[in-house]
Amino acid sequence: MFKQSKWPKTLIFDKSTPGRQGYQVPELSSLEREQLEKARNTISNNLLRKSSPNLPEVSELEVVRHFTRLSQMNYGVDSGFYPLGSCTMKYNPKICDTAASMLQAQNIHPYQPADTVQGSLQVMYELASWLAELSGMTGLTLQPAAGAHGEYTGIMILRKYHETQNNLVIKNEIIVPDSAHGTNPATVSMCGFKTIVIPSNGDGCVDIDALKSSVTERTAGMMLTNPNTLGIFEPNIKEITEIIHGVDGLMYYDGANFNAIMGKVRPGDMGFDIVHFNIHKTFATPHGGGGPGAGPVGVISRLVPFLPVPTVAYNPADDKYSFNYDHKYTIGKVRSYFGNFSTLLRAYSYILRLGQAGLTRVSEMANLNANYMKTQCARIKGFSVPYGENSSCMHEFVLSAKKLCKETEITALDISKYLLDNGLHPPTIYFPLIVPEALMIEPTETEPKEVIDDFIEVLKKISELAYSGKTTDILKAPVSTSIGRIDDVKAAREPIISYRMLKAKRNE
Ligand SMILES: Cc1ncc(COP(=O)(O)O)c(C=O)c1O
Repeated sequence: MFKQSKWPKTLIFDKSTPGRQGYQVPELSSLEREQLEKARNTISNNLLRKSSPNLPEVSELEVVRHFTRLSQMNYGVDSGFYPLGSCTMKYNPKICDTAASMLQAQNIHPYQPADTVQGSLQVMYELASWLAELSGMTGLTLQPAAGAHGEYTGIMILRKYHETQNNLVIKNEIIVPDSAHGTNPATVSMCGFKTIVIPSNGDGCVDIDALKSSVTERTAGMMLTNPNTLGIFEPNIKEITEIIHGVDGLMYYDGANFNAIMGKVRPGDMGFDIVHFNIHKTFATPHGGGGPGAGPVGVISRLVPFLPVPTVAYNPADDKYSFNYDHKYTIGKVRSYFGNFSTLLRAYSYILRLGQAGLTRVSEMANLNANYMKTQCARIKGFSVPYGENSSCMHEFVLSAKKLCKETEITALDISKYLLDNGLHPPTIYFPLIVPEALMIEPTETEPKEVIDDFIEVLKKISELAYSGKTTDILKAPVSTSIGRIDDVKAAREPIISYRMLKAKRNE
């Protein structure tokens, strides 16, 4: 069983000793000093730093120990099972990291002339073509830096499209199901639209009657993930896309769950017009805690002129790749340079390594693992699967501990904390909001059966302990982790996220 280390919680700033150095650079020659002075004179005075950047002064040894200890106090996909629903925390093959750390990739600069970085342009061009093929889209931008950023890019494209159709005055609403990820309504607001939430039906899918009664000439589009956050594939997807297209709306596909359908079915064939990928989830980049990621966006041919610039073009006549700034209605740039290149390179090598058959097998295994787990978990006393208990799920499912909570007062939060004491990362909890005491479980395609069985055994143990009244260990969990149960409300209301904030707090 994985156990976190419990090192003293010292900040690197607190280890700082004036004058101590971790790295030494050679003295500058007089020519270099002169050049530096010249460069400095080109920067206007108000931009020059007036005081030191206040970095900790520590030796190399202290830096190495500090970060090694931090990593030992942490938990990641390389440490153990991480079934954090909707986040696709799967094992990321090391070959992808090797590709991303190649010197040819690391030592290039985005301002280099296209002629000198043909290999990188080829990677971007081919990756964009493969993603377009997988999603059934025509054109693609690799710029967005995350799924949420992809959503923003996609909805800005939708906005500009309606603007060029002179429809924007009327079309100011976007439909989002109540099971949607929070970034969907947030994106809608950020892009200046009003969110119209529609309820799910008893099967956890889009309620077609509710959809029909919400759709009007004001509908600019709909955001949907398929399979949805309950892990259920929308059986009426064709009808849904037709209803939205019937009022000149556009269909937006949230691709966070793409590992459930890859190689099997394409959003473009379902009727979607704009698609984002969560490259870091689907195509292997170790992610979490806010990065790193990439959220490429694909569009149907009618929307290609709206893509951010530049995209990468290929000319077979001279076998050269180049940047293409020629997109008539472009929404402009959405990120500096050309995207999160190392994440794109990981995705490129992952796709190249697996090939078409391998990618299809990824989704088959993701769905198989989830269905096995769902069937086993639903049998445990106190748990149920409110949506889709008797049908098969896709890559994830949402378990409810409502009965357990009602009968024993053990909550989804208690369950998560006790899982930590058993060396397992908990699932996503209390999401989606339509499931009480929700545990959203995504085993991913990379986990072997014995690991999944371990998790199921711990859930069984929790149920047995709860029903026999032996809840002390569950209620005080986690005790084995480097950090115990935290006060979530205090953490959300009084976050201390910089050393400066901590110093101010200490001086209060
Ligand atoms: C369904 C869904 N949509 C969108 C997102 C946002 O993606 P990202 O975290 O890459 O910004 C997530 C992230 O978990 C998600 O699960």
